[in-house]
Amino acid sequence: MDLFDKCAGFFSDPAVAQAIGYATNPRTAQAMGLYPFFIALDQTEGTEVVIAGKRLIMIGSNNYLGLTTHPKVRQAAIDAIREYGTSCTGSRFLNGTLVLHQQLEEQLADYVGMEKALVFSTGYQTNLGTISALIGRGDVVVIDKEDHASIVDGCRLALGQMKRYRHNELDDLDRVLAGCPPDAGKLVVVDGVFSMGGDIAPLPDIIPICKKHGARLMVDDAHSLGVLGGGRGTAAHFGVTADVDLIMGTFSKSFASIGGFIAGSEPVIHWIQHFGRSLMFSASLPAPNVAAVLAALQIMKAEPERVQRVNEIGERMRREYRRLGFKIGASETPIIPIVIGDQMDAIMAWKALLEAGVYCNVALPPAVPEGQSLLRTSYMATHTDEQMDCVLEVFAKVGRTLGLIS
Ligand SMILES: Cc1ncc(COP(=O)(O)O)c(C=O)c1O
Repeated sequence: MDLFDKCAGFFSDPAVAQAIGYATNPRTAQAMGLYPFFIALDQTEGTEVVIAGKRLIMIGSNNYLGLTTHPKVRQAAIDAIREYGTSCTGSRFLNGTLVLHQQLEEQLADYVGMEKALVFSTGYQTNLGTISALIGRGDVVVIDKEDHASIVDGCRLALGQMKRYRHNELDDLDRVLAGCPPDAGKLVVVDGVFSMGGDIAPLPDIIPICKKHGARLMVDDAHSLGVLGGGRGTAAHFGVTADVDLIMGTFSKSFASIGGFIAGSEPVIHWIQHFGRSLMFSASLPAPNVAAVLAALQIMKAEPERVQRVNEIGERMRREYRRLGFKIGASETPIIPIVIGDQMDAIMAWKALLEAGVYCNVALPPAVPEGQSLLRTSYMATHTDEQMDCVLEVFAKVGRTLGLIS
């Protein structure tokens, strides 16, 4: 069989697509207008986007504080291009470290309450480089079953063993850790806020279990920075920063840019600097992206009302969706899943919302377990109450029409 046969089959033959968990093949879905991925935006102004000439309310971004269009963030990126150009053309390890990267690292370490931070070019690369640098042969990394794909991929790249425990079930975490060789180095990695469910990792309960088994703890705060703990993340939210070993963050969400960082104690960050392959063998974050993060961080510190606002909107939307009869799982944050179940039902709901002027994301297997397809909605500090009224009205109408609610 030719290596590429599966590729052609995936696009043209529903049986091939179904065999790997897709309801149908993407080309058929595209022809029916039911393909929810790679949708191109003509314009994006934060809370509203234009798709194929039609204006929609955006509830599918990770722009929690609405800073991607903030004048100071835009200006910082423009000024940095003028000063440094568009690329560092090399890795942090060699010619790609600017004083700007070091300034950002100092400010981030201080912001999340750690000794030192290290900036990578994406959040994905941060998890890849951190986990693979730390988990050597004989070590074990233990992760929550709903951790982000970049954590799973970091574990796959590592030479040590990966084990998983049931989502937020701490008896299971205890059981998995108890089953690890006692003399193995152990790292537990959790999402601070889970990216699909919007629920929070219960760090105050996880920490004693890690301590009991001599495991280190890393928290992926991609969706927590700018949202929890006054913006400083999950450990700050629970007041347990001193008991967390590593905090990871991305710049592609509240920080209005792209990139990521890991923060922890000086020797551990120094080790990752020298063994994190995704840092050493990939070009560094360009100056405009670094400058945008620095500007966003200033605003996050100076305007705590943004953090408060996004949480207020999240609270209101959770309350209203529940009142309407939608299933929103265990969400506690401005990420609110609308759990539909069947793949095609979820796609039909996404399409109906799009036609009615609301953009959200769809999560289908394998991104979510079979039978738990959902609409992922998420909110921004800059959304207006009127926009939220409109979203709720559209959801109520679409939900009733499709029989999702009564
Ligand atoms: C929990 C989590 N970690 C890591 C990442 C990767 O971050 P980035 O998109 O900045 O590479 C994401 C992105 O979606 C995420 O949700």
